[in-house]
Amino acid sequence: MDFSLEWLFDPEVFCVNRLPAAARMLLRDGDGKPMEQTLDGKWKFMFAQTPAQAPANPSARDNDLSGWEEIIVPGAIQLQGGGKWGLPQYVNTQYPWDGVEAVELGKVPQANPVGTYVRDFTVPPEWDGPIHVRFDGAETAIAVYCNGKFIGYSEDSFTPSAFDLTMSIERGAVNRLAVQVFRYSTASWLEDQDFWRFSGIFRSVWLTTQARTHLADVFLHPELSDDNTEGTLRAEVKIAGELTGRLQMDIGISCVEIPIQSREMTLSIDVPTPLLWSAEQPNLYNVALRILAHDGTVVEQTELKAGFRRVSIENGVLKLNGKRLVFKGVNRHEWNCRRGRSVTLEDMKSDILAMKRANINAVRTCHYPNRTEWYDLCDEYGLYVIDETNLETHGTWNWLSKNEMYRAIPASRPEWKNAVLDRAKSMVERDKNHASIVMWSCGNESAGGEDIYLMSQWMRERDPSRPVHYEGVFQDRSYPGTSDVESQMYTSAANVEEFIEKNPNGRAKPFILCEFAHAMGNSCGAVHKYMELIDRYPNYQGHFVWDWIDQCLLAKAPTGEEYLAYGGDFGDRPNDGTFCANGLLFADRKPTPKLFEIAALYQNFVVEPSRYDVRIVNKSMDTDLSAYTLRAELHKAGRVLESREMSGAAAPGEETRIPLPFVVPEEPGEYTVTVTVRLKNDTPWAPAGTPVAQGQCVLETKKQPQPCLFPMRVIEGDNNIGIIGGNFQVLFQKTNGAMISYQWKGEELILAAPRLNFWRAPTDNDLGCADPFEKAIWRSAGAYAKCLSCGVSGDQLRADVTVVYALPTPQKDTVTVVYSVTGDGMVETTLTWNGDEAEVPEFGMVFTLPHSLSTVSYYGRGPHENYCDRMTGALLGLWQFEAKENLTPYHHPQECGNRTGVRMAAVTGEEGAGFVLRAESENAVDLNVLPYTPDEVEAARHPYALPPVTKTVVRVSGGQTGVGGDDSWGSKVHEEYRCRLHTGDTVRFRFGGAGK
Ligand code: GAL
Repeated sequence: MDFSLEWLFDPEVFCVNRLPAAARMLLRDGDGKPMEQTLDGKWKFMFAQTPAQAPANPSARDNDLSGWEEIIVPGAIQLQGGGKWGLPQYVNTQYPWDGVEAVELGKVPQANPVGTYVRDFTVPPEWDGPIHVRFDGAETAIAVYCNGKFIGYSEDSFTPSAFDLTMSIERGAVNRLAVQVFRYSTASWLEDQDFWRFSGIFRSVWLTTQARTHLADVFLHPELSDDNTEGTLRAEVKIAGELTGRLQMDIGISCVEIPIQSREMTLSIDVPTPLLWSAEQPNLYNVALRILAHDGTVVEQTELKAGFRRVSIENGVLKLNGKRLVFKGVNRHEWNCRRGRSVTLEDMKSDILAMKRANINAVRTCHYPNRTEWYDLCDEYGLYVIDETNLETHGTWNWLSKNEMYRAIPASRPEWKNAVLDRAKSMVERDKNHASIVMWSCGNESAGGEDIYLMSQWMRERDPSRPVHYEGVFQDRSYPGTSDVESQMYTSAANVEEFIEKNPNGRAKPFILCEFAHAMGNSCGAVHKYMELIDRYPNYQGHFVWDWIDQCLLAKAPTGEEYLAYGGDFGDRPNDGTFCANGLLFADRKPTPKLFEIAALYQNFVVEPSRYDVRIVNKSMDTDLSAYTLRAELHKAGRVLESREMSGAAAPGEETRIPLPFVVPEEPGEYTVTVTVRLKNDTPWAPAGTPVAQGQCVLETKKQPQPCLFPMRVIEGDNNIGIIGGNFQVLFQKTNGAMISYQWKGEELILAAPRLNFWRAPTDNDLGCADPFEKAIWRSAGAYAKCLSCGVSGDQLRADVTVVYALPTPQKDTVTVVYSVTGDGMVETTLTWNGDEAEVPEFGMVFTLPHSLSTVSYYGRGPHENYCDRMTGALLGLWQFEAKENLTPYHHPQECGNRTGVRMAAVTGEEGAGFVLRAESENAVDLNVLPYTPDEVEAARHPYALPPVTKTVVRVSGGQTGVGGDDSWGSKVHEEYRCRLHTGDTVRFRFGGAGK
């Protein structure tokens, strides 16, 4: 048989000569040597724009390859070759050829680049059994050749394709393997995930062998009695080759052996009172499977891990080992900013550590099966996995109305049925032995229909131990039985509640949000609302943040520096711009401030200190509070007074109150009591002492304000009003009310007069819900405010300069600013809104300081960026940062760097005078210090495009709008977190000079 190009656009041909899917096992021979060898590394490579231009007979051994180029396997073609092998292209739901070529449904574009890979290899002399080759991931279709012969064909980029080379290789000689990789095939219609479009061999390639009697497949069933006290490990084993010798299963505490007499055999071992597996306590058993010759020598062996755990749905509630399961989850694409989807073991290791440290207990492998090592890590470290079939056909239906869904694929179309089923089989067969996988998912956003229903039925039949997940049922409820859980995405917390309360099926199935909290740019506001649902509804079983890591690629900026590029930056057209960047991590795996919020919301303990004690509620599933240490800290105005260890016990689901190990003083001041729950012992993911939960309370004893008695002079000139004290001198221009100078001990502290500010650089979420369209007027409202009056009153102890501004709003709203100067140089500033009710991005003042003042120390919430709807993880304390480093490097610059609850701040330089800010705790302000104005931030498409640092911009506001993020395409910031002004509203703070 020969390869036929027609297979590329025939949905019924998705594999030819591909070997049956089986569990991933590392086989070893009797000596323990691996029976597989990687073919990763350099391959010879030829790129062709179309299949017609690709070399014929690529594996002929006499082909002269001297003119060929080289490529690294694994890797995407478009990320190698410096652009000459095509561009990476980022598109979301649309197909990559949309508007460029008219491609009929199921067909492929004419412009279909082909990469031809060639590699010579020899078979190790001791390998005398069958020889296979296995591709762990190649996108989107491959035709494989060896020594001049066609071997096989396969689609499905994310599951392995193995082929038998035995009859084509020559032992003891150099063999030639060739693979033609097609960028587009019918698979492209089924792989319309929201991600960068690449092609190539992006996971490892293996040459494998096997013994005469061979473990072809193993399905482990670690089964538990209903009370979890009796375990049985059953293994269904498929044997290939000769039926001879014995099959052994050894789990250390017990070992069984049976003669090999048939192709399918079952072994079983009873395990009384087994140690259970859960994400909190991921106990695993080593399971050795061996094929023994008659004389007892091992001919082939493998080692797997089994975890005893029982997934069930009881009365609409999903349970693990009989206990209610709660997913504190995240969606994870495989990503590396240099290598695309060719992730490394280090990437995976770093992800799992970061997830565990952030209290994440679940991951959805959106939207395809991952490298198998990922599941090994999830088994070992403890994460619940929803393993998702590589299927998404979003572009075939997302523009259709619901009653036109029949135009979607696969729907109930017979010609797509087998391809779709095959994808599920390849995943389930490969991954079935992983304890961490608690649900199979039929794919993402592929509408409904019979084909996917049949897939779900196949999954249930093959593996009754795991429920099936499919969110697409929400889009098309014609086959509701496809999903065992009610899975939705981006439904607001209020609508989830309404569904559970009011829908007749609201409590029939476990409810999960397989995607929520769209973490695009500066986002993840009001996530607590979803956490509250977990407490309210037993069948609301958690949610998965969209998503783990920004999918941005490193590229060279025109300035020469490296930067993280998004859709369009490579000249890719069409593209979906910044939508690839929705991560809790930046693409280089550095954490974003959103991660700290999620970590705090996902913590397993409610920690509520008060003046005398701390209340701790244990929300873990399996672990007592006594497995942790506690630390209580007492601070006064951010400075530590006490730090003491404590201990306590509370079983899962229980709560306790523990007295504080210190007394909070009665003397005036603001005190915080902070209690952290910390790891008592080292774990594989963090050392002892690492905090896993925290809580804080603020206690204030007011002191009587002392009036300032330093005298000043007020000089009212023709043009200016001057106020001069011992250490300072302030000058206001009468014509426009501008404070044109503030000198402290002779040093000028302001580069430009402070002015009103209502604007922030729009966030991705603001843009997504057209907030700037509603509020555009506020962009210029402060900059173009007109002074209506300016006057001074008062005496030598306190001088009030009152300025009234009209704003360029349709109603010409007015704001009164009163600067009350006292002899200590502090300027109490009161902004009063005189207009009608209005909704603004923020309401405050912006100061422009010399850039030499760039170190910010403040007492407020931190240490990281926080907003009124995203501050759970930010504790009140004394923190510090540099203005320049306060630019959170969101892929596309936007509002960032804010701090809430600020009572004091000092902006200082290396020497000389500094700028100070103060606010009463009940009127604490938001503070934002960056070297850029909101306009400058907004104008830059990438951080590299920001202007040079020439100033320090300090924004002080009575509060700015939250960041929102239920989704990034229409959902507004929740009402209570918007900045709404009412007549008479004020913002009050004091500023002045200090130091020197
Ligand atoms: C969902 C989809 C994700 C991603 C997200 C938006 O609809 O499942 O893959 O596209 O929207 O970022």
